[in-house]
Amino acid sequence: MSLRVVVNHEERTVASAPLTPLSTVLREEFALTGTKEVCGEGFCGACTVLVDGAPAVSCLVPVGLVEGRRVETVESLAVGEDLSALQAAMIETDAVQCGMCFPGILMTLTGFFSERPDADEEEIRSALAGNICRCTGYEAIVEAALSIRGAGAAASAVEAAS
Ligand code: FES
Ligand code: FES
Repeated sequence: MSLRVVVNHEERTVASAPLTPLSTVLREEFALTGTKEVCGEGFCGACTVLVDGAPAVSCLVPVGLVEGRRVETVESLAVGEDLSALQAAMIETDAVQCGMCFPGILMTLTGFFSERPDADEEEIRSALAGNICRCTGYEAIVEAALSIRGAGAAASAVEAAS
């Protein structure tokens, strides 16, 4: 029996076995290679996607567990040429270096802001605890996140991810 998952607003049929990691299905079956698989063991957060709006490390999620659920990847954030507020802020603060961690960071913060649109710096840093960035020292990432705090920014982040 095949699995069905709603990926980036589109119902998809999964050919892979139910125990296949969601990250593998996204990248290899659906060619959504924005999701990065770095450690493959749940430590780095690079593979973070949203499952029913909440951040999840997709390398640890068997695809069978998301049967019938909503998965959003980093590809869902921009609409055409229009970046989400968070993506635009990351460019504005020149936050990106090698970029391997960024899909996960964007999805973590997008999910986080949908719950905590007015989060303070400490809460933002805490939300990023599971996302390892080896390049940046996080300062520009946090600066970008702080710059979009508030209802309007959160709404646009959620809109982009829903
Ligand atoms: S690749 Fe999934 S947490 Fe590192
Ligand atoms: S920008 Fe290189 S790991 Fe974060």
